[in-house]
Amino acid sequence: MADTSPAPPPPPPQPANSGNTNQAHLNPLPTSVYTLPQTAQLEALYTIIRDKETSRGDFLFYSDRIIRLLVEEGLNHLPVVKRTVETPTGATYEGVGFEGKICGVSILRAGEAMEAGLREVCRSVRIGKILIQRDEETTLPKLFYSKFPQDIASRYVLLLDPMLATGGSAMKAVEVLMEHGVPEERIIFINLIASPEGLKTFCTKFPLLKVITGWIDEGLNEKAYIIPGLGDFGERRYCT
Ligand code: URA
Repeated sequence: MADTSPAPPPPPPQPANSGNTNQAHLNPLPTSVYTLPQTAQLEALYTIIRDKETSRGDFLFYSDRIIRLLVEEGLNHLPVVKRTVETPTGATYEGVGFEGKICGVSILRAGEAMEAGLREVCRSVRIGKILIQRDEETTLPKLFYSKFPQDIASRYVLLLDPMLATGGSAMKAVEVLMEHGVPEERIIFINLIASPEGLKTFCTKFPLLKVITGWIDEGLNEKAYIIPGLGDFGERRYCT
């Protein structure tokens, strides 16, 4: 007898970042957020850098490994255009090349630790800097210093900050970049660990900006440290 049961409904459309599995602490995950593939290797790297007993040397080595993965993932989100080359065999190869120029901008001081990872994959990349601190009077994030490539408005910007806690500094940094003419959609924020609340606030304010993060943690404590986190990234990295 012919099967007359109705066909099952088609699966719902998958969001662009559906490969993510580390969404437990932020569900639904904003579609502009991309986490690294949550492999056992990645978890092992995070376990080392989270461990308070880890030596400074190991912290540097293993956080650099994660940063390298994050930068590579960030580059995956840059637009490309068709590019045809001739190979030494005389054949043509129809490939692609990056569409535009990029630069890095590190949020001082912890973001500086991510510059080497960017330079490893983008030789002679220009890197700007931005220093944002809490204004003692207003308690709001305040711009203290910035230095950008003079043509930053025409570049894609990889914004570097390892820890996204409340999101205050990162949001101020994006505002400053936009004041310098960089459109929101040309900024890619690269981050090691994010708090769910910081990530949500950040993505709500800048929905067109892509966020590449390695891990979304449980939340913030009363001192605005990420939990479980890894403590103060700058202190762990620079020992000061
Ligand atoms: N910055 C850090 O270095 N660690 C946190 O947990 C939050 C902000």
